[in-house]
Amino acid sequence: MTSSLAGKTALVTGGSRGLGRAICVALAKNGARVAFNYSRDEVEAAATLTAIRACGAVGSAFKVSVLDRQGIAEMVRTIESESGPIAIAINNAGVGQVVPVALMEEEDWDRMMNINVKGAFLVSKAVMRSMIHQKRGRILNISSLAGVKMMNAPVHYAAAKAALKGFTEALAKEIGRYGVTVNCLAPGILTEGVSANLPPAKLEEYLRHCALGRVGTFEEVADVAAFLVSDLNSYMNGSTIVLDGAV
Ligand SMILES: NC(=O)c1ccc[n+]([C@@H]2O[C@H](COP(=O)([O-])OP(=O)(O)OC[C@H]3O[C@@H](n4cnc5c(N)ncnc54)[C@H](OP(=O)(O)O)[C@@H]3O)[C@@H](O)[C@H]2O)c1
Repeated sequence: MTSSLAGKTALVTGGSRGLGRAICVALAKNGARVAFNYSRDEVEAAATLTAIRACGAVGSAFKVSVLDRQGIAEMVRTIESESGPIAIAINNAGVGQVVPVALMEEEDWDRMMNINVKGAFLVSKAVMRSMIHQKRGRILNISSLAGVKMMNAPVHYAAAKAALKGFTEALAKEIGRYGVTVNCLAPGILTEGVSANLPPAKLEEYLRHCALGRVGTFEEVADVAAFLVSDLNSYMNGSTIVLDGAV
């Protein structure tokens, strides 16, 4: 794949570091114009922008939370006026938190569900009107193995990531008729990011069960994401793809 996304405008949420940055770069390498948002870290965001531009692609960054409905609407308007209709939206922004349920506060639960699930809803809603109008579009939700398989994971994280699978399926049914496909990608443990603070025992258990005997890299997931949102992937809709080296 080298130009499978040529001429397309993509929005990646949570693109300032980690998997989001790798996805931005993979889309840029495949010819897309890439916009992304983040909520806090401007230094990291600048590094992503540099990486996108190093691929020869047009990039733009927006400091706006996925929970800021008005800010998202403004961001989408700006992207569309500068780069044309958004053809691809990847709901990647997410948070993790290693905490046992006994110590989990209501605020922990709400933050987890809000950023991981409500954020995907708000951003999808902001982009889908134009996609429906265009009669084409790709929405990809980044879930996790913890959301699709029974495993030792924080309950609020597992619940939020499982919700994204249901969101994907219902949304795919609802807007597939307009030529917009909605899929979900569920990676296992990756080298860094939300898995960074995993207790060593949990990581060892994962590696024991993983047929490939290692965690995944951001780039490995990003390359699959770039394929999933391309025109090469035209009949997949409502699917959740697990990428975990066979756990
Ligand atoms: N790493 C893994 O092992 C792994 C495995 C499976 C699934 N995933 C999923 O992959 C996605 C990315 O994870 P990651 O490991 O790359 O995490 P990460 O390194 O912590 O990056 C998260 C990104 O989301 C942004 N973000 C957080 N809250 C936001 C908000 N309210 N609005 C907009 N952006 C926000 C962060 O930027 P700011 O902090 O500046 O806002 C950052 O760019 C998540 O959905 C995660 O659940 C990760």
